[in-house]
Order: sequence, then C-alpha cells, then structure tokens
Amino acid sequence: MLLHGGSRYLVLITVSLGFICVLLLVFIILQHITITAERDLIKSYKNTVEEFNQTTNSLQDNYTDLMTKKHKLQNSLNSLSQKKLELEIRVKDLTAEKDQLQRSSDSLSQKKLELETRVISLSEELKKEQSKRG
Ligand SMILES: *[C@@H]1O[C@H](CO)[C@@H](O)[C@H](O)[C@H]1NC(C)=O
Ligand SMILES: *[C@@H]1O[C@H](CO)[C@@H](O)[C@H](O)[C@H]1NC(C)=O
Repeated sequence: MLLHGGSRYLVLITVSLGFICVLLLVFIILQHITITAERDLIKSYKNTVEEFNQTTNSLQDNYTDLMTKKHKLQNSLNSLSQKKLELEIRVKDLTAEKDQLQRSSDSLSQKKLELETRVISLSEELKKEQSKRG
C-alpha cells in the first residue's frame, strides 16, 4: 500500500480517534455501572431509613399506647386504694357496732339472769306465805 505522508497521518489520527472512542465507551459503560450501583445503594439506603422510621413510629405509638394504659391502670389502682380505705373504715365501724351490740347483749343476759333469780326468790317467798296461811 502506498500512502502519502498526509494519508498516513490521517490513518494515525483515525486510529487514535477510534481508540479514544473505545476508551470513552468503556468509560461511559463503567460510569453507567457505577451510577446504577450507587442508585441501587441509595434506594436500599432509603428503604432502610424508611423501615427504621416506620419501626421508630410504631415504637413511638406503642410507647404512647403503653403510657395511656399505664395511666389508666394507675387511676384504677388509685380508685381501688380509695375503695379499700373506705371499706377498711366501714369494717372498723361495723366492728365497733358489733362490740357495742355484744356488750348490750351481755348486759341484757345479765339482767335476765337477775330477773330469773328474783322470780325464783319471789316464788319461794309466795310459797312460804301460802304454807303459813294454809
Ligand atoms: C418518618 O415518619 C414521619 C411520620 O410518619 C414522617 O413525617 C417523616 O417524613 C418520615 N421521615 C422519613 C425520613 O421517612
Ligand atoms: C407495636 O405493637 C404491635 C401490637 O401490639 C406489635 O405488633 C408491633 O410489633 C409493635 N411494634 C414494635 C416496633 O415493637
């Protein structure tokens, strides 16, 4: 093949340009792969952040829920304590009343005994009077 000096340069330039094109193509492909990988990474990172956010929100909701339940239980406990106090006072009152009634009953039993004794002694006296007369 016979080439002039100018044609040889042209071939050299063409080959060089072709080489540069191939290099650029390789570079662009690599860039595309890198960008895709980065995009996937960012997407998965976003998903992780979203999941974390959801878990945090769910935990926050559960915490709020638990606090509400705790307050309700605390209120129930307070009201039950109040009722327990009232019942204790009522039991004390009833015990005092029972003791009072027991004392009254004892005293009435005592009076009954005295009256019975008196009836017996009166009957005996009456018998004696009747036997004196009879
Ligand atoms: C996390 O969740 C809250 C409430 O649902 C929302 O307002 C916020 O934008 C979310 N943040 C992210 C990074 O997703
Ligand atoms: C919040 O409570 C619900 C139901 O009680 C439960 O299914 C869920 O797993 C809880 N969330 C977290 C993050 O523990």
